[in-house]
Amino acid sequence: MPAFPAGFRWGVSTSAYQIEGATAADGRGPSIWDTFAQEAGRIVDGSTADEACDHRHRYAEDTALLAGLGVSAYRFSVAWPRIQPTGAGPANAAGLDFYDRLVDGLLAAGVDPVATLFHWDLPQALEDAGGWLNRDTAARFAEYADLTAARLGDRVKLWITLNEPFIHMSLGHGIGTHAPGRMLLFDAFPVAHHQLLGHGLAVAALRASSTSPVAIANNYSPVRQVGDTDADRAATEAYDALHNRLFTDPLLGLGYPDAPGVDPAVVRDGDLAVIAAPIDVLGVNYYNPTGIRAPEEGSPLPFEIVPLDGYARTAFDWPVAPDGLRELLLHLHRRYGDALPEIQVTESGCAYDDAPDAQGRVDDPERIAYLDGHVRAVREAMAEGVPVTGYFVWSLLDNWEWAEGFTKRFGLVHVDYATQRRTPKSSYAWFRDLTRR
Ligand code: BGC
Repeated sequence: MPAFPAGFRWGVSTSAYQIEGATAADGRGPSIWDTFAQEAGRIVDGSTADEACDHRHRYAEDTALLAGLGVSAYRFSVAWPRIQPTGAGPANAAGLDFYDRLVDGLLAAGVDPVATLFHWDLPQALEDAGGWLNRDTAARFAEYADLTAARLGDRVKLWITLNEPFIHMSLGHGIGTHAPGRMLLFDAFPVAHHQLLGHGLAVAALRASSTSPVAIANNYSPVRQVGDTDADRAATEAYDALHNRLFTDPLLGLGYPDAPGVDPAVVRDGDLAVIAAPIDVLGVNYYNPTGIRAPEEGSPLPFEIVPLDGYARTAFDWPVAPDGLRELLLHLHRRYGDALPEIQVTESGCAYDDAPDAQGRVDDPERIAYLDGHVRAVREAMAEGVPVTGYFVWSLLDNWEWAEGFTKRFGLVHVDYATQRRTPKSSYAWFRDLTRR
Protein backbone atom coordinates (compact mmCIF):
# COMPACT_ATOMS: atom_id res chain seq x y z
CA MET A 1 0.00 0.00 0.00
CA PRO A 2 1.47 3.39 -0.96
CA ALA A 3 1.89 5.89 1.88
CA PHE A 4 -0.77 8.47 2.74
CA PRO A 5 0.04 11.99 3.93
CA ALA A 6 0.32 12.54 7.68
CA GLY A 7 -2.99 13.80 9.05
CA PHE A 8 -5.08 11.85 6.52
CA ARG A 9 -8.34 11.05 8.32
CA TRP A 10 -9.12 7.35 8.66
CA GLY A 11 -12.57 6.60 9.95
CA VAL A 12 -15.63 4.39 10.01
CA SER A 13 -19.26 5.41 9.55
CA THR A 14 -22.62 4.36 10.96
CA SER A 15 -26.09 5.89 11.14
CA ALA A 16 -28.43 6.26 14.10
CA TYR A 17 -31.41 4.31 12.83
CA GLN A 18 -29.32 1.38 11.62
CA ILE A 19 -27.58 0.75 14.96
CA GLU A 20 -29.17 2.50 17.93
CA GLY A 21 -32.35 0.54 18.67
CA ALA A 22 -34.05 1.81 21.85
CA THR A 23 -36.59 3.56 19.67
CA ALA A 24 -38.69 4.54 22.68
CA ALA A 25 -35.85 5.57 25.04
CA ASP A 26 -35.10 9.19 25.98
CA GLY A 27 -38.56 10.31 24.88
CA ARG A 28 -37.64 9.74 21.24
CA GLY A 29 -40.55 10.24 18.84
CA PRO A 30 -41.38 7.95 15.92
CA SER A 31 -39.60 8.41 12.60
CA ILE A 32 -40.72 7.59 9.08
CA TRP A 33 -38.61 4.41 9.23
CA ASP A 34 -40.48 3.13 12.30
CA THR A 35 -43.72 3.56 10.39
CA PHE A 36 -42.37 2.06 7.17
CA ALA A 37 -40.79 -0.98 8.84
CA GLN A 38 -44.10 -1.83 10.48
CA GLU A 39 -45.91 -2.02 7.14
CA ALA A 40 -46.24 -5.55 5.78
CA GLY A 41 -43.87 -6.44 2.96
CA ARG A 42 -41.61 -3.39 3.20
CA ILE A 43 -38.55 -5.07 4.80
CA VAL A 44 -37.32 -8.30 3.19
CA ASP A 45 -36.91 -10.27 6.44
CA GLY A 46 -39.89 -8.63 8.14
CA SER A 47 -37.58 -7.21 10.82
CA THR A 48 -37.71 -3.80 12.49
CA ALA A 49 -34.86 -1.69 13.89
CA ASP A 50 -36.48 -1.49 17.34
CA GLU A 51 -33.39 -3.16 18.78
CA ALA A 52 -30.93 -3.04 15.84
CA CYS A 53 -27.41 -3.25 17.38
CA ASP A 54 -28.64 -1.84 20.70
CA HIS A 55 -25.95 0.80 20.31
CA ARG A 56 -27.97 3.29 22.40
CA HIS A 57 -27.13 1.09 25.40
CA ARG A 58 -23.84 -0.39 24.19
CA TYR A 59 -22.17 2.78 22.93
CA ALA A 60 -19.33 2.48 25.46
CA GLU A 61 -18.46 -1.00 24.16
CA ASP A 62 -18.67 0.33 20.59
CA THR A 63 -16.43 3.27 21.46
CA ALA A 64 -13.88 0.78 22.80
CA LEU A 65 -14.07 -1.02 19.44
CA LEU A 66 -13.30 2.28 17.70
CA ALA A 67 -10.36 2.90 20.00
CA GLY A 68 -9.05 -0.61 19.31
CA LEU A 69 -9.39 0.02 15.60
CA GLY A 70 -7.16 3.06 15.93
CA VAL A 71 -9.28 5.27 13.66
CA SER A 72 -8.89 9.01 13.99
CA ALA A 73 -12.58 9.71 13.30
CA TYR A 74 -16.02 8.19 13.75
CA ARG A 75 -18.95 9.31 11.62
CA PHE A 76 -22.29 8.73 13.36
CA SER A 77 -25.66 10.36 12.88
CA VAL A 78 -27.84 12.18 15.34
CA ALA A 79 -31.44 10.93 15.39
CA TRP A 80 -33.62 13.98 14.79
CA PRO A 81 -36.58 12.28 16.60
CA ARG A 82 -34.44 12.00 19.76
CA ILE A 83 -33.68 15.73 19.69
CA GLN A 84 -37.14 16.92 18.59
CA PRO A 85 -39.61 14.05 19.05
CA THR A 86 -42.22 15.81 16.92
CA GLY A 87 -39.75 17.59 14.63
CA ALA A 88 -40.40 21.01 16.17
CA GLY A 89 -40.10 22.87 19.43
CA PRO A 90 -37.44 22.93 22.14
CA ALA A 91 -34.71 20.33 22.36
CA ASN A 92 -35.38 17.15 24.28
CA ALA A 93 -32.56 17.23 26.85
CA ALA A 94 -32.45 13.45 27.32
CA GLY A 95 -31.85 12.98 23.58
CA LEU A 96 -29.02 15.49 23.52
CA ASP A 97 -27.54 13.95 26.69
CA PHE A 98 -26.99 10.67 24.85
CA TYR A 99 -24.97 12.29 22.06
CA ASP A 100 -23.14 14.41 24.61
CA ARG A 101 -21.93 11.26 26.36
CA LEU A 102 -21.06 9.61 23.06
CA VAL A 103 -19.03 12.64 21.91
CA ASP A 104 -17.16 12.89 25.21
CA GLY A 105 -16.41 9.17 25.11
CA LEU A 106 -15.03 9.48 21.59
CA LEU A 107 -12.80 12.41 22.49
CA ALA A 108 -11.53 10.55 25.54
CA ALA A 109 -10.66 7.64 23.22
CA GLY A 110 -8.79 9.97 20.84
CA VAL A 111 -11.42 9.69 18.09
CA ASP A 112 -12.79 12.79 16.31
CA PRO A 113 -16.60 12.91 16.39
CA VAL A 114 -18.05 13.50 12.90
CA ALA A 115 -21.80 14.07 13.15
CA THR A 116 -24.37 13.70 10.38
CA LEU A 117 -27.62 15.53 11.13
CA PHE A 118 -29.98 13.74 8.75
CA HIS A 119 -29.50 10.12 7.79
CA TRP A 120 -33.09 9.54 6.60
CA ASP A 121 -34.92 9.25 9.96
CA LEU A 122 -37.36 12.13 9.59
CA PRO A 123 -39.71 12.65 12.57
CA GLN A 124 -43.05 11.11 11.58
CA ALA A 125 -44.90 14.27 12.66
CA LEU A 126 -43.08 16.21 9.93
CA GLU A 127 -43.96 13.55 7.37
CA ASP A 128 -47.59 13.88 8.40
CA ALA A 129 -47.29 17.56 7.43
CA GLY A 130 -45.90 16.68 3.99
CA GLY A 131 -42.31 15.76 4.85
CA TRP A 132 -39.66 17.01 2.45
CA LEU A 133 -42.36 17.82 -0.11
CA ASN A 134 -43.27 20.64 2.25
CA ARG A 135 -40.95 23.65 2.08
CA ASP A 136 -41.38 24.24 5.81
CA THR A 137 -39.37 21.06 6.55
CA ALA A 138 -36.24 22.94 5.40
CA ALA A 139 -36.82 25.54 8.13
CA ARG A 140 -37.52 22.82 10.69
CA PHE A 141 -34.23 21.14 9.75
CA ALA A 142 -32.29 24.36 10.33
CA GLU A 143 -33.92 24.71 13.74
CA TYR A 144 -32.87 21.16 14.65
CA ALA A 145 -29.32 21.87 13.39
CA ASP A 146 -29.22 24.93 15.60
CA LEU A 147 -30.34 23.01 18.71
CA THR A 148 -27.81 20.25 18.09
CA ALA A 149 -24.90 22.57 17.36
CA ALA A 150 -25.68 24.65 20.46
CA ARG A 151 -25.01 21.56 22.57
CA LEU A 152 -22.32 19.68 20.61
CA GLY A 153 -20.78 22.42 18.49
CA ASP A 154 -17.76 22.86 20.74
CA ARG A 155 -16.71 19.19 20.33
CA VAL A 156 -17.92 17.80 17.00
CA LYS A 157 -14.97 18.07 14.62
CA LEU A 158 -16.86 17.87 11.32
CA TRP A 159 -20.56 18.42 10.62
CA ILE A 160 -22.37 16.64 7.80
CA THR A 161 -25.79 18.13 7.12
CA LEU A 162 -27.47 15.48 4.95
CA ASN A 163 -26.64 11.94 4.00
CA GLU A 164 -27.28 11.04 0.36
CA PRO A 165 -30.19 13.32 -0.47
CA PHE A 166 -30.32 11.64 -3.89
CA ILE A 167 -31.03 8.21 -2.39
CA HIS A 168 -33.59 9.66 0.02
CA MET A 169 -35.34 11.36 -2.90
CA SER A 170 -35.17 8.51 -5.39
CA LEU A 171 -35.74 5.42 -3.23
CA GLY A 172 -37.87 7.11 -0.57
CA HIS A 173 -40.02 9.34 -2.79
CA GLY A 174 -39.42 8.30 -6.41
CA ILE A 175 -39.91 4.54 -6.38
CA GLY A 176 -40.93 3.93 -2.76
CA THR A 177 -38.55 1.15 -1.73
CA HIS A 178 -37.37 3.23 1.25
CA ALA A 179 -39.37 5.26 3.77
CA PRO A 180 -41.62 7.12 3.42
CA GLY A 181 -42.54 4.85 0.51
CA ARG A 182 -43.86 7.42 -1.94
CA MET A 183 -43.94 6.63 -5.67
CA LEU A 184 -43.77 10.01 -7.35
CA LEU A 185 -41.05 9.34 -9.93
CA PHE A 186 -39.85 12.76 -11.12
CA ASP A 187 -42.57 14.60 -9.24
CA ALA A 188 -40.28 13.98 -6.26
CA PHE A 189 -38.16 16.98 -7.30
CA PRO A 190 -39.41 19.19 -4.41
CA VAL A 191 -37.79 16.63 -2.07
CA ALA A 192 -34.45 17.42 -3.71
CA HIS A 193 -34.94 21.15 -3.54
CA HIS A 194 -36.20 21.27 0.03
CA GLN A 195 -33.41 19.02 1.29
CA LEU A 196 -30.88 21.30 -0.40
CA LEU A 197 -32.57 24.38 1.01
CA GLY A 198 -32.54 22.76 4.46
CA HIS A 199 -28.85 22.04 3.98
CA GLY A 200 -28.08 25.68 3.14
CA LEU A 201 -30.09 26.99 6.11
CA ALA A 202 -28.43 24.42 8.37
CA VAL A 203 -24.96 25.53 7.23
CA ALA A 204 -25.76 29.01 8.55
CA ALA A 205 -27.14 27.58 11.82
CA LEU A 206 -24.05 25.42 12.34
CA ARG A 207 -21.68 28.31 11.62
CA ALA A 208 -23.47 30.36 14.30
CA SER A 209 -22.51 28.00 17.13
CA SER A 210 -19.57 25.97 15.89
CA THR A 211 -16.27 26.78 14.28
CA SER A 212 -15.90 23.22 12.96
CA PRO A 213 -15.96 22.55 9.23
CA VAL A 214 -19.25 21.72 7.52
CA ALA A 215 -19.92 19.13 4.81
CA ILE A 216 -22.65 17.21 3.02
CA ALA A 217 -22.38 13.52 2.06
CA ASN A 218 -23.57 12.74 -1.46
CA ASN A 219 -23.84 9.38 -3.15
CA TYR A 220 -22.05 9.20 -6.51
CA SER A 221 -21.98 6.53 -9.17
CA PRO A 222 -19.93 6.72 -12.35
CA VAL A 223 -22.27 5.95 -15.22
CA ARG A 224 -21.26 3.31 -17.77
CA GLN A 225 -23.07 3.63 -21.09
CA VAL A 226 -24.28 0.26 -22.35
CA GLY A 227 -24.91 0.38 -26.11
CA ASP A 228 -23.69 3.05 -28.49
CA THR A 229 -26.69 4.69 -30.07
CA ASP A 230 -27.50 8.38 -29.68
CA ALA A 231 -30.42 7.31 -27.50
CA ASP A 232 -28.04 5.37 -25.22
CA ARG A 233 -25.85 8.45 -24.94
CA ALA A 234 -28.80 10.70 -24.10
CA ALA A 235 -30.01 8.20 -21.49
CA THR A 236 -26.53 8.09 -19.92
CA GLU A 237 -26.36 11.88 -19.73
CA ALA A 238 -29.83 12.08 -18.18
CA TYR A 239 -28.94 9.53 -15.51
CA ASP A 240 -25.60 11.19 -14.78
CA ALA A 241 -27.30 14.57 -14.35
CA LEU A 242 -29.83 13.03 -11.98
CA HIS A 243 -27.50 10.93 -9.84
CA ASN A 244 -24.24 12.85 -9.93
CA ARG A 245 -25.10 16.49 -10.64
CA LEU A 246 -28.60 17.33 -9.38
CA PHE A 247 -27.34 17.91 -5.84
CA THR A 248 -23.72 18.91 -6.46
CA ASP A 249 -24.14 21.57 -9.16
CA PRO A 250 -26.38 23.83 -7.03
CA LEU A 251 -24.26 23.20 -3.91
CA LEU A 252 -21.21 24.46 -5.76
CA GLY A 253 -22.98 27.52 -7.15
CA LEU A 254 -23.86 26.27 -10.64
CA GLY A 255 -27.63 26.06 -10.23
CA TYR A 256 -29.63 23.02 -11.29
CA PRO A 257 -28.42 20.97 -14.24
CA ASP A 258 -30.72 19.91 -17.05
CA ALA A 259 -31.84 16.75 -15.19
CA PRO A 260 -35.14 14.85 -15.38
CA GLY A 261 -37.75 16.32 -13.05
CA VAL A 262 -36.12 19.69 -12.36
CA ASP A 263 -39.04 22.13 -11.97
CA PRO A 264 -38.07 25.82 -11.78
CA ALA A 265 -41.50 26.64 -10.31
CA VAL A 266 -40.40 25.01 -7.02
CA VAL A 267 -37.33 27.26 -6.73
CA ARG A 268 -37.92 30.68 -5.18
CA ASP A 269 -35.80 33.80 -5.53
CA GLY A 270 -32.77 33.60 -3.27
CA ASP A 271 -32.94 29.81 -2.76
CA LEU A 272 -29.95 29.05 -4.96
CA ALA A 273 -27.78 31.49 -2.99
CA VAL A 274 -28.78 29.80 0.28
CA ILE A 275 -28.01 26.35 -1.18
CA ALA A 276 -24.60 27.52 -2.45
CA ALA A 277 -23.42 28.66 1.02
CA PRO A 278 -19.73 27.66 1.06
CA ILE A 279 -18.98 24.24 2.53
CA ASP A 280 -15.57 23.11 3.75
CA VAL A 281 -15.67 19.46 2.72
CA LEU A 282 -17.56 17.45 0.11
CA GLY A 283 -18.42 14.01 1.46
CA VAL A 284 -18.35 11.32 -1.23
CA ASN A 285 -20.15 8.02 -0.67
CA TYR A 286 -19.27 5.43 -3.29
CA TYR A 287 -20.35 1.84 -3.74
CA ASN A 288 -20.53 0.99 -7.45
CA PRO A 289 -20.90 2.25 -11.01
CA THR A 290 -24.27 2.13 -12.82
CA GLY A 291 -24.92 0.69 -16.29
CA ILE A 292 -27.37 2.73 -18.38
CA ARG A 293 -28.94 2.34 -21.79
CA ALA A 294 -31.88 3.86 -23.64
CA PRO A 295 -35.28 2.86 -22.20
CA GLU A 296 -37.83 0.62 -23.89
CA GLU A 297 -40.57 2.39 -25.82
CA GLY A 298 -43.25 3.63 -23.41
CA SER A 299 -41.05 3.58 -20.28
CA PRO A 300 -41.86 6.30 -17.72
CA LEU A 301 -38.10 6.81 -17.27
CA PRO A 302 -35.70 8.44 -19.76
CA PHE A 303 -33.09 5.70 -19.10
CA GLU A 304 -32.89 2.04 -18.18
CA ILE A 305 -30.56 0.73 -15.46
CA VAL A 306 -28.84 -2.48 -16.58
CA PRO A 307 -26.51 -4.87 -14.73
CA LEU A 308 -22.84 -4.47 -15.67
CA ASP A 309 -21.06 -7.62 -16.84
CA GLY A 310 -17.58 -8.74 -15.98
CA TYR A 311 -17.33 -7.80 -12.32
CA ALA A 312 -17.06 -9.76 -9.09
CA ARG A 313 -20.14 -9.03 -6.98
CA THR A 314 -20.90 -8.39 -3.32
CA ALA A 315 -23.73 -10.11 -1.44
CA PHE A 316 -25.89 -7.15 -2.53
CA ASP A 317 -25.11 -8.17 -6.11
CA TRP A 318 -23.32 -4.83 -6.54
CA PRO A 319 -20.31 -4.89 -8.90
CA VAL A 320 -16.91 -4.57 -7.22
CA ALA A 321 -15.28 -1.71 -9.13
CA PRO A 322 -12.56 0.11 -7.19
CA ASP A 323 -11.51 1.90 -10.32
CA GLY A 324 -14.94 3.56 -10.35
CA LEU A 325 -13.91 5.43 -7.22
CA ARG A 326 -10.74 6.75 -8.82
CA GLU A 327 -12.69 7.71 -11.94
CA LEU A 328 -15.38 9.44 -9.92
CA LEU A 329 -12.88 11.46 -7.86
CA LEU A 330 -11.08 12.54 -11.03
CA HIS A 331 -14.41 13.46 -12.64
CA LEU A 332 -15.46 15.63 -9.71
CA HIS A 333 -12.10 17.38 -9.84
CA ARG A 334 -12.34 17.93 -13.58
CA ARG A 335 -16.00 18.95 -13.55
CA TYR A 336 -15.89 21.45 -10.68
CA GLY A 337 -12.28 22.65 -10.74
CA ASP A 338 -11.62 25.39 -8.22
CA ALA A 339 -15.21 25.29 -6.95
CA LEU A 340 -14.55 21.83 -5.50
CA PRO A 341 -13.75 21.87 -1.77
CA GLU A 342 -11.59 19.24 -0.14
CA ILE A 343 -13.10 15.75 -0.40
CA GLN A 344 -13.50 13.07 2.24
CA VAL A 345 -14.79 9.66 1.20
CA THR A 346 -17.51 9.42 3.85
CA GLU A 347 -18.68 5.89 2.93
CA SER A 348 -17.04 2.96 1.16
CA GLY A 349 -17.72 -0.67 1.92
CA CYS A 350 -19.40 -3.92 0.98
CA ALA A 351 -21.81 -6.59 2.18
CA TYR A 352 -20.79 -10.25 2.40
CA ASP A 353 -22.43 -13.19 4.16
CA ASP A 354 -19.92 -13.28 7.01
CA ALA A 355 -20.41 -15.90 9.73
CA PRO A 356 -18.29 -17.10 12.65
CA ASP A 357 -16.33 -20.34 12.08
CA ALA A 358 -16.12 -23.23 14.59
CA GLN A 359 -13.57 -21.27 16.65
CA GLY A 360 -15.81 -18.20 16.65
CA ARG A 361 -13.55 -16.26 14.26
CA VAL A 362 -15.02 -14.28 11.38
CA ASP A 363 -12.77 -14.30 8.36
CA ASP A 364 -13.77 -11.90 5.56
CA PRO A 365 -11.04 -11.88 2.92
CA GLU A 366 -13.42 -10.47 0.27
CA ARG A 367 -13.95 -7.33 2.37
CA ILE A 368 -10.20 -6.92 2.85
CA ALA A 369 -9.68 -7.19 -0.91
CA TYR A 370 -12.55 -4.79 -1.55
CA LEU A 371 -11.25 -2.15 0.87
CA ASP A 372 -7.66 -2.59 -0.25
CA GLY A 373 -8.71 -1.87 -3.84
CA HIS A 374 -10.77 1.17 -2.89
CA VAL A 375 -8.09 2.67 -0.61
CA ARG A 376 -5.56 2.29 -3.44
CA ALA A 377 -7.99 3.96 -5.85
CA VAL A 378 -8.21 6.94 -3.48
CA ARG A 379 -4.42 7.15 -3.28
CA GLU A 380 -4.16 7.08 -7.07
CA ALA A 381 -6.69 9.89 -7.44
CA MET A 382 -4.71 11.90 -4.87
CA ALA A 383 -1.53 11.32 -6.86
CA GLU A 384 -3.37 12.74 -9.86
CA GLY A 385 -4.18 15.91 -7.94
CA VAL A 386 -7.59 15.31 -6.33
CA PRO A 387 -7.68 16.87 -2.83
CA VAL A 388 -8.86 13.89 -0.74
CA THR A 389 -8.23 14.18 3.00
CA GLY A 390 -10.14 11.28 4.51
CA TYR A 391 -11.62 7.81 4.00
CA PHE A 392 -14.40 6.25 6.10
CA VAL A 393 -15.38 2.58 5.88
CA TRP A 394 -19.07 1.74 5.87
CA SER A 395 -19.50 0.34 8.45
CA LEU A 396 -18.15 -0.23 11.95
CA LEU A 397 -20.82 -2.83 12.76
CA ASP A 398 -23.06 -5.18 10.86
CA ASN A 399 -26.38 -3.36 11.11
CA TRP A 400 -29.97 -2.96 9.99
CA GLU A 401 -29.65 -2.37 6.27
CA TRP A 402 -32.90 -0.47 5.58
CA ALA A 403 -35.29 -2.45 3.34
CA GLU A 404 -32.87 -5.40 3.48
CA GLY A 405 -33.31 -5.68 7.25
CA PHE A 406 -30.62 -7.83 8.85
CA THR A 407 -29.79 -9.74 5.67
CA LYS A 408 -26.79 -7.64 4.56
CA ARG A 409 -23.64 -7.43 6.69
CA PHE A 410 -21.38 -4.42 6.02
CA GLY A 411 -19.40 -4.35 9.29
CA LEU A 412 -15.74 -4.62 10.20
CA VAL A 413 -17.30 -6.09 13.34
CA HIS A 414 -19.74 -9.01 13.20
CA VAL A 415 -22.90 -8.65 15.30
CA ASP A 416 -24.88 -11.67 16.52
CA TYR A 417 -28.31 -10.06 16.69
CA ALA A 418 -29.67 -12.68 19.11
CA THR A 419 -27.04 -11.94 21.77
CA GLN A 420 -25.65 -8.56 20.58
CA ARG A 421 -22.22 -10.12 20.80
CA ARG A 422 -19.63 -8.17 18.76
CA THR A 423 -16.80 -10.07 17.05
CA PRO A 424 -14.17 -8.11 15.13
CA LYS A 425 -13.71 -9.67 11.68
CA SER A 426 -10.33 -10.15 10.04
CA SER A 427 -11.00 -6.91 8.09
CA TYR A 428 -11.01 -5.06 11.44
CA ALA A 429 -7.43 -6.19 12.10
CA TRP A 430 -6.49 -5.38 8.51
CA PHE A 431 -7.90 -1.85 8.73
CA ARG A 432 -6.27 -1.32 12.15
CA ASP A 433 -2.88 -2.30 10.72
CA LEU A 434 -3.41 -0.05 7.70
CA THR A 435 -4.30 3.03 9.74
CA ARG A 436 -1.39 2.36 12.13
CA ARG A 437 1.03 2.34 9.22
C1 BGC B 1 -26.24 4.64 3.12
C2 BGC B 1 -26.10 3.66 4.26
C3 BGC B 1 -26.29 2.25 3.75
C4 BGC B 1 -25.21 1.95 2.74
C5 BGC B 1 -25.26 0.56 2.15
C6 BGC B 1 -25.59 4.17 1.85
O1 BGC B 1 -26.44 4.46 0.78
O2 BGC B 1 -25.82 5.92 3.49
O3 BGC B 1 -27.03 4.01 5.25
O4 BGC B 1 -26.29 1.30 4.77
O5 BGC B 1 -25.34 2.84 1.67
O6 BGC B 1 -26.42 0.34 1.42
